[in-house]
Amino acid sequence: MEACHFSLDQKVQSLQISAEGITHLLMEGVDLSTHRHLSVYHPIYKLLAPHLLNTMAINKKGRELLLDGGIFDSLMSVGVKGSEHLMAKRIVGLVTWHLDVDGTLPEDLKRRVVCVNIGRRMRYVYDGLKVYEAIKKYVTNYIHLYYSEFITELGVPGGGRFRNLDHLIQTLTSFIVTCSVQHAAVNFPQYNFSGFPPAYPTELAGSPPIDKRPQTMEAVLNALPGVATLTEIIMVGNVLSAKVTNALGDFETMYIQDLKAVQILHEFRVELSEISQLFTASNKQCRVPPYDYLLPENIPNSVSI
Ligand SMILES: [Fe+2]
Repeated sequence: MEACHFSLDQKVQSLQISAEGITHLLMEGVDLSTHRHLSVYHPIYKLLAPHLLNTMAINKKGRELLLDGGIFDSLMSVGVKGSEHLMAKRIVGLVTWHLDVDGTLPEDLKRRVVCVNIGRRMRYVYDGLKVYEAIKKYVTNYIHLYYSEFITELGVPGGGRFRNLDHLIQTLTSFIVTCSVQHAAVNFPQYNFSGFPPAYPTELAGSPPIDKRPQTMEAVLNALPGVATLTEIIMVGNVLSAKVTNALGDFETMYIQDLKAVQILHEFRVELSEISQLFTASNKQCRVPPYDYLLPENIPNSVSI
């Protein structure tokens, strides 16, 4: 007889999948709006464009392969409807999602302080905030370069408009952090969760246990999906965890050409490199497996897978 428990990790993973989907959906909106309203010569377009690379394409593919009639329905107990329900719920819910709370990492972490105490998720807090601050400094320097005098001369009004330079900096930082840090933290652990399907089988046959008594190994095996489904779960997790685009600060297309702005980008890259050395040193001292999802070289610029 061996015990079978639904772990806290499984609940966290369900939320993680919803959080991953939300980074995709929200950034598609930012992508659409950026292309609709900003010229390719606009400094904000040049700032955001690398972080929006391929997002529309992967979302289109995702809708075709994962949603209606796709993998979500064939491999997951909750299916498309259940996933939509999860995404609509609080904590990671779209209905109650606000950029200045849920989309702003320090504010989001303050609200979900419970997560800080769950083992390796402490590293998500520490590493995430470190890279967040580097991105914010990069955006601040970049925006100051272009907007200081512009804002002063025009006096940007409130009411749905940017109230001041800090408001603009905060908003753009949140966009880029969501495209990069947030998506990397929830996307790339997928294979580690689903690569061993009994730990995260996506569907179980029969009725769930109604109490916490240990289940027999036979009951556990009977509840698990067949080999074909398990193989597909592993393959999907593997594909979705692949990195196909460049790392944070290393852009496929170099939109920023202004020499002063190139210098600001260079400083951002130097800081990311220092952060990488810091995280690598701290990972070496870790007794648990290293948390390397937020090493800057492991964070793609955009939601592109
Ligand atoms: Fe993704």
